[in-house]
Amino acid sequence: MKQALNFSWQFMPDFKDDYLSSFPDNAENIDIPHSNVSIPMHYFDEQCYQRISTYQKCFDVDEPVGDQKVYLHFGGFMVKAKIYLNGHDLGEHVSTYLPVQIDITNVVKQQDNRLIVVLDSNEDPDIPPFGHVIDYLTYGGIYREVSLQISAVQHLKHLHVHANHQGEITISYDVENAEMSPYAVSFELSYQGNIVDVFKQTKHKIDNILPWSIDHPHLYQLRAMLTSDLVETSAVVRFGFRTAIFKDSGFYLNDEKIKLIGLNRHQAYAHVGYAMPRSMQVDDALILKNTLGVNVVRTSHYPQSEHFLNACDELGLLVVQEFPGWQHIGQTPDWKNHVLDFTKRMILATYNHPSIILHGVRINESQDDHDLYSKTNAIAHELDPFRQTGGVRNFKKSELLEDVYTYNDFLHHGGNPGLENPKKVLPRKAPYLVTECNGHMFPTKAFDPERIRVEHAHRHLAVIDSAFKYPNISGVIGWCMNDYHTHRDFGSGDHICYHGVLDMFRNPKMAYASYASQSDDRIVFEVLSTMNIGEQPEGLLGTVTVLSNVDSVKMYKNDHYVAEFHPDIKQYPHLKHAPFKIDEYIGDAIYQEKDLPKKAIKILKKALNEATIKGLSHVSLKTMLSIGLLMVRYRISYSRLVGYWEKYVSNWGQKTLVYRFDGIKNGQVVCSKTVAPLLDMTLKANTDQLHFKVSDTYDVQKVVLRYVDVHETVAQLSSLPVTLEVQGPFVVLGPKVQSLHGGQLSVYIKTTSRSDGKGSITITPNEGKPIIVELNSETVIEK
Ligand code: GAL
Repeated sequence: MKQALNFSWQFMPDFKDDYLSSFPDNAENIDIPHSNVSIPMHYFDEQCYQRISTYQKCFDVDEPVGDQKVYLHFGGFMVKAKIYLNGHDLGEHVSTYLPVQIDITNVVKQQDNRLIVVLDSNEDPDIPPFGHVIDYLTYGGIYREVSLQISAVQHLKHLHVHANHQGEITISYDVENAEMSPYAVSFELSYQGNIVDVFKQTKHKIDNILPWSIDHPHLYQLRAMLTSDLVETSAVVRFGFRTAIFKDSGFYLNDEKIKLIGLNRHQAYAHVGYAMPRSMQVDDALILKNTLGVNVVRTSHYPQSEHFLNACDELGLLVVQEFPGWQHIGQTPDWKNHVLDFTKRMILATYNHPSIILHGVRINESQDDHDLYSKTNAIAHELDPFRQTGGVRNFKKSELLEDVYTYNDFLHHGGNPGLENPKKVLPRKAPYLVTECNGHMFPTKAFDPERIRVEHAHRHLAVIDSAFKYPNISGVIGWCMNDYHTHRDFGSGDHICYHGVLDMFRNPKMAYASYASQSDDRIVFEVLSTMNIGEQPEGLLGTVTVLSNVDSVKMYKNDHYVAEFHPDIKQYPHLKHAPFKIDEYIGDAIYQEKDLPKKAIKILKKALNEATIKGLSHVSLKTMLSIGLLMVRYRISYSRLVGYWEKYVSNWGQKTLVYRFDGIKNGQVVCSKTVAPLLDMTLKANTDQLHFKVSDTYDVQKVVLRYVDVHETVAQLSSLPVTLEVQGPFVVLGPKVQSLHGGQLSVYIKTTSRSDGKGSITITPNEGKPIIVELNSETVIEK
């Protein structure tokens, strides 16, 4: 049985010996997940969370303990903690990113237990990932859920199921107190609550299974039942039947070759660092799968929340996971022992997730270390003989002790090939996966100039294109999903690495569509411009990019058809959905000019278009000459020529210029985007109601704000302030006044009560009408 222990803790931001005997009355009441400080948006001191703090939790055990075993389970705390229960010292435990489970059978009481956690969130150089610099913050606090696990005195543990897409199942487990009494174990397999098979052997073949795949992530349950003279008990795990294998020729899921296209994820959030409950962890998986349309995520650079992994299992999102570390290998035996311990703990904790296709068992971008990595690989292969290992490096021809050569390829700097030829990187023939690209090569903010944001999108496209060029590249995982907090040695000087295709609030930058447009799950149609010449150097619109998975794009100016555009397969020959390059702005309306013959208009049109794209001072000599001749031949005065320019290009002082782009698929217009001068802006929220589910702990939901015009174009340069007022048993995470970032903001709202509740949030922009979103929370019993 599991008893959640997340509500009503007391927290002191420091530690004094006295707290062990009596906790101060002025302690703050908090719930878990918890961040030991509220994290400012940016420009803060990264020492702020590096402190020793103390937590107290008083609790009764709900179920009669009797002669059962009781364990205290922490999902994750940063970094290490001394733990005391009822005055007994339970020792020091290191978590960082991994669960800690402590046997408290001998010290727990049925009632009036007092748990003290003295949490040290300082970066300890003896524990990975610490000891040198790291490009991300690790925050502090008990940031994942806590529970009691109550089990029969003899019980199953480490119940692991491997199942392939042919229905072959292999089960392993350990038995606690195996020596106490002879026992028998049998298994019951079910799918969606219906029993499919009952059997006793640990290797078994099931007929007619539904395989787990990206499109159909079928999940099964295995109940293992242990019977002895002492107990009758069972354990349940969820898994999927699938075969995931990296070969020299690429990646295969259930014998089907799949190109992996994905993003790296940091589990950091604004205001609270790592401390987000299930809903927001699931939200990230949904964003990756549905908004970004990727098929793989790398949990860079550490094991991530079980809620996130569960959601990946449910959604069919593949996962490349990693243990904690970044570039540095500590040379003390302690440091290296932690690496081995973390490898083991990561695999034991995550074994049953069908979404995980690779265990990363090398410190991200570290040097070769034959001894250390021989050991991590051996541990991984012994504990999980069915999954391959990878080891992320950033240099070529490194010693390959893993099954897959996983490589961070930062070759692309715009204008050159997207990726290295794997032949140049691999020390020998081997499966090959690109685990990072872009990132620091081109930091991009949601509010950067348009040309930077467009270039960012193109750089991601270039790399994806290259991944398709080389059939033996299993895939590419871009750096990265979202902007993240970092140490002072990295980022833009404000403690943020603006490397995401989403901002820190998970709102899209243009490059989100470089990924989204490659999927066919939904129509994606993004015009990467507000068509304002003043935003561009020299006032030149140049070519405009449309990212979409439609067949063609038709452009209209003030409802006059200009041209139809087709995917730019010249620049992107390997992409499934190459972008559209809008490079024709004049259109056929110019042929309505009566005072020139058609032949002359054709020359004029070509010259005007060239000037629109390159600028008047950069048109070719040939074009200049052709215009000169035209002017002489047809007696076109300079001012008449300027008139054509104003009419067909600049539109200065004339009727508002409105562009419309229609997306065509199978001959039909399936989507449309109008781009007009940004007037009449309104703040809009994604919803007028939010539903919260309070269960094992509090819930967090978000209101997504966008400052848009009537055509839903986001005012990407807006940092409009909004005042946030909440009514009812809810609270806003972060300050009461927040600003939009790049015209967008996610406001995170948290429940504060364990019972059902109703309320609202009023969001008042500095300009414009307030928005009211209703909040409803419901208490849900966890199964
Ligand atoms: C890589 C590193 C990532 C991140 C990225 C930025 O070298 O593995 O953690 O720092 O660079 O591009």
